[in-house]
Amino acid sequence: AKSFFPDLSPFFLSLPLLVLLPFALFSGSGSDTPPGPVSFPIVGNWLQVGNDLNHRNLVDLAKKYGNVFLLRLGARNLVVVSDPKLATEVLHTQGVEFGSRPRNVVWDIFTDNGKDMVFTEYGDHWRKMRRIMTLPFFTNKVVQQYREMWEEEMDMVVRDLRGDRVAQTEGVVVRRRLQLMLYNVMYRMMFDARFESMSDPLFQQATRFNSERSRLAQSFEYNYGDFIPILRPFLKGYLNKCRDLQSRRLAFFNDNYVEKRRKLMAARDGKRLRCAMDYILEAEMNGEISSDNVIYIVENINVAAIETTLWSMEWAIAELVNHPNAQQRLRKELWDVLGDEPLTETNLQRLPYLQAVAKETLRLHSPIPLLVPHMNLEEAKLGGYDIPKRTKVIVNAWWLGNNPEWWHKPEEFRPERFLDEEKEVEALVGGKVDFRFLPFGVGRRSCPGIILALPLLSLIVGKLVKDFEMVPPPGVDKIDVTEKGGQFSLQIANHSTIAFHPIAP
Ligand code: HEM
Repeated sequence: AKSFFPDLSPFFLSLPLLVLLPFALFSGSGSDTPPGPVSFPIVGNWLQVGNDLNHRNLVDLAKKYGNVFLLRLGARNLVVVSDPKLATEVLHTQGVEFGSRPRNVVWDIFTDNGKDMVFTEYGDHWRKMRRIMTLPFFTNKVVQQYREMWEEEMDMVVRDLRGDRVAQTEGVVVRRRLQLMLYNVMYRMMFDARFESMSDPLFQQATRFNSERSRLAQSFEYNYGDFIPILRPFLKGYLNKCRDLQSRRLAFFNDNYVEKRRKLMAARDGKRLRCAMDYILEAEMNGEISSDNVIYIVENINVAAIETTLWSMEWAIAELVNHPNAQQRLRKELWDVLGDEPLTETNLQRLPYLQAVAKETLRLHSPIPLLVPHMNLEEAKLGGYDIPKRTKVIVNAWWLGNNPEWWHKPEEFRPERFLDEEKEVEALVGGKVDFRFLPFGVGRRSCPGIILALPLLSLIVGKLVKDFEMVPPPGVDKIDVTEKGGQFSLQIANHSTIAFHPIAP
């Protein structure tokens, strides 16, 4: 993403600070807010810390200022939490107090000021939306209803790779095919609709709309107008672009999918609910939610479900290619346990190493390393400090899972750790929670999609490894696992090209 101050040297960056120095406010002076760097009028700490507050840069700041520190980004306050005890406070003990979401000028547009679920404040609206979405998306019954469909979509990927000579020799960017698979999984669950191929015009439109939305929402380009209200008029062009994209995108979802289900529902008189949208439309007919809420549920699933799961699949595959011993061990487990039997959701429980591979991937490369930001509507206390109301509170979940104080050689991809020294650790919400391992968060605002994401990740990885030896393309030694972060995502910078050598049928 483009930075607002892309190439300025530290010298130029320090000039405005020197001018402002006499007016510097020392954060913490007078009130008991968490420690943090010296804060300057108007810009706060923004010029010192820059835009790219990714999980690694935030670790450097935590080493300097402590496990809870405060940054002032213009008019916005940001608190960063970097240890398991304080994470427990934010997500669990004081889960209600810190259970809201901050928004910014751009997210306000993409959620129509919180008509959605993911970014809305904690309260009645969020509770209702979460309840209405749970029945058709986030229960074990849903998993049972759809698991065969998931397996079918995944077997098609395996079949395509088996029939693709290029994939078997030079290798392919497997992400593209997996993206189609995940869109099909989610659109079949949502609308009972699927895309024929990567060249299906509807698929191309859907992916284009969603990636443009992600780019505009995650960019650092608009920070200046968000942080410094008097500069907001300069954002007019950017915000108009967001509005225009959002209205075309929502119309796309509505015209091609929601309206079709609405007509089917009307024709069937609401009987025989088939896909998630039917349940959501039933809630609309009962007057529980508005048609705007319906469309924002679709938008939230498009944002929260597909790319996140896809990133975790890309990471898992890249790491297994770079760690042939782990890949070999996984293949042995799959063949020892299943033999010729196909891998299905029902036998995941019998495959501990496969589960360990999924966990290790999510630990080392958490797709949402800082969780979705939290926010306190009222002034609150955290770690003995005062947290001003409406502070954006970030939990550095990636660091909880990668701090050498708490993990043995955390920088290594070693699934075995989850069978050995960390065998008690589960990525489950509720029950026994280990606050060092929170790829899906925990508590009220935790990811309800975990119930789908974990089996989806394990299933595709297992199916690919059972059927193929996955290797780097010819002439390449290791897959490049350089990271690329956005405002809250952790993706692989270069989509890997992988060669798939079929295992004898
Ligand atoms: C929220 C991770 C897949 C739906 C979240 C949060 C995280 C997360 C970290 C925020 C937790 C917090 O703020 O404390 C992931 C990862 C995924 C994944 C790593 C895949 C590997 C999915 C899927 C769905 C989904 C497949 C839906 C089908 C949601 C929703 C929320 C959410 C609706 C908002 C919850 C709320 O605000 O109440 N996810 N997620 N996610 N996720 Fe996921």
